[in-house]
Amino acid sequence: MTLVVSEPALAERLELAREVARRAGALQRERYETDLTIDSKSASIDLVTEVDRACEALIVAAIRDAFPRDAILAEEGGIGAAPGAEFCWIIDPLDGTTNFAHGFPRFCVSIGIERRDLRVVAVVYDPLLDECFEAVRGAGAWLGARRLSVSRETELGRGLFATGFPYDVHASDDDNLEAFARVVKSARGIRRDGSAALDLCYVAAGRIDGYWERKLHAWDVAAGILLVEEAGGRVSDEQGGPVDRSGRELVATNGPLHASLLEKVRKRSAG
Ligand code: IPD
Ligand code: CA
Ligand code: CA
Repeated sequence: MTLVVSEPALAERLELAREVARRAGALQRERYETDLTIDSKSASIDLVTEVDRACEALIVAAIRDAFPRDAILAEEGGIGAAPGAEFCWIIDPLDGTTNFAHGFPRFCVSIGIERRDLRVVAVVYDPLLDECFEAVRGAGAWLGARRLSVSRETELGRGLFATGFPYDVHASDDDNLEAFARVVKSARGIRRDGSAALDLCYVAAGRIDGYWERKLHAWDVAAGILLVEEAGGRVSDEQGGPVDRSGRELVATNGPLHASLLEKVRKRSAG
C-alpha cells in the first residue's frame, strides 16, 4: 500500500513537493561535509549556508513554474505574495542548518501546503537516510509503503521525547531550560538533535513519544503537524489549545501522553 490521493489538485502538488524535496535533498547530500559559505541571521548561532539558499531557490522556482498562482512562504525570503491564492506552500529548504554546517548527519527538507489555512499536504525528506515522510489530509501519514502511526505508550517514565532551544537562548530567559529539566527528571530519555521537522516525523512514526519546542516558525512545523495528526497523534499549544501555525509554541505527542507532557512543559507562573 502507498499514499493514494484522489483529488487532482492535491495529487499534483504532492507529486511536485516530493520531486523538489528529493532534488533539494540530493544537493544537500552532495554538499554535505564540503566547504560551505556560512552566514548568521537573527543571532550568532542562527546560521544559514549557501546550500539553504540554493535549495530554496530551486524549490521556489519549480513551484512558480508549475503553480504560478499559489502563494509561497519560504524561510530564506522566497516569499511570493499571491493575494487570494487558494494554496500556500510553506517551505524550510534545510531544517537542521546547524547540524548541516557541522557535518552532523541530521537535517531535511520540509514542505507543507495549506489550502485556505488548512494543512493539506506534507513532505519531509531526509536525504542521508533517504526517508521521505508524506501526509495528505484524510489519507494518512506514510513512509514509503508503510502507513505511520504514533506510539501507544501511556507512561511518561517509559517515554522518549525530543525538544530544542531557541536561537535567542543566550539572551532570553524564555529558554525552555526549566521545562527541559522537568522532562529529563521524569522521562526515559530526551533528545535534542536539531531538526524540528524530523522530530515531528519521528513522533508520527512512533520513534519518539512526544516533542515540544517554543519560538519555532511556520516553516519548521507546517509539514510536521499534519504528519503527526494524520498518524493519529495530537498537537497543541502549551495550554492544550489549538496549535498556532506560527510555531510559537508547540507540543506534539502520541495522544495518551499529551496531558502528562503538557503538565511538565507548561510555564509555571512567577511566584
Ligand atoms: C531549527 C531546527 C532546530 C530547532 C530550531 C529551528 P533551522 O531550524 O529545526 O531543531 O531547535 O528552533 O529553528 O534553522 O535549522 O532551519
Ligand atoms: Ca527550521
Ligand atoms: Ca532552515
